[in-house]
Amino acid sequence: MSIEASGLSVSIDKRTVLSGESLTASMGEMSALVGPSGSGKTTLLNCLGLLLKPTGGQIYLEDQDAAAWNDRRKLKFWQKRAAFIYQDYGLIAEESVAYNITLKAGSLFRNRPYIDDRLTEILDVVGLSGRAKDAASVLSGGEKQRVGIARALYKEASYIFADEPTASLDADNRETITGLLRQAAGRGACVLIATHDERLASEADHLHILAS
Ligand SMILES: Nc1ncnc2c1ncn2[C@@H]1O[C@H](COP(=O)(O)OP(=O)(O)OP(=O)(O)O)[C@@H](O)[C@H]1O
Ligand SMILES: [Mg+2]
Repeated sequence: MSIEASGLSVSIDKRTVLSGESLTASMGEMSALVGPSGSGKTTLLNCLGLLLKPTGGQIYLEDQDAAAWNDRRKLKFWQKRAAFIYQDYGLIAEESVAYNITLKAGSLFRNRPYIDDRLTEILDVVGLSGRAKDAASVLSGGEKQRVGIARALYKEASYIFADEPTASLDADNRETITGLLRQAAGRGACVLIATHDERLASEADHLHILAS
């Protein structure tokens, strides 16, 4: 199982943003999309995660023509198989860190978030111990990014799409996150990362270089 894309192109307002990109990303591997700012890393990642419909080309996911999937099939993929680690992406600002990671409600009566042992363990791993009840809106950029990682880990996603996952982090946290993404690949996930971070890219099994 893998992601296989061929000849992906994206044009926006008659401007060519991606031109004929092809890549294969396998389960158990970490692939990095690298290239200068504006070269189309985020755009390519969005296409591979089915968030953006390419103007041309093909995407095969799990040996199926994913470009032909209807909204319901895509939703199933996002819900069951994929996790997105984008800064601010998909975090519900007014909800707790715990809810944002587990997407499970706690006691409705006492307004308490749902917290289980796995969540506690994962919060510890991403350096957010004790923050389960905080609202996502009060977190720093780097902390939000770590909530995104925690959600991917909690969900045991098969496909992890990460856009600059180390961008707002200090050196220690950068290393932690790089290690976590590597571990996720080690557990069999297909990890795709758009990044400027050379250290993170150097940890990848494959580099896909986008020209400017
Ligand atoms: N919705 C959009 N409307 C207009 N232009 C867009 C849109 N999305 C992307 N672009 C353009 O496509 C090009 C590639 O953008 P993209 O965000 O993919 O680059 P990137 O490689 O991720 O850059 P960075 O390293 O700065 O994050 C840019 O020139 C950008 O302005
Ligand atoms: Mg980008």
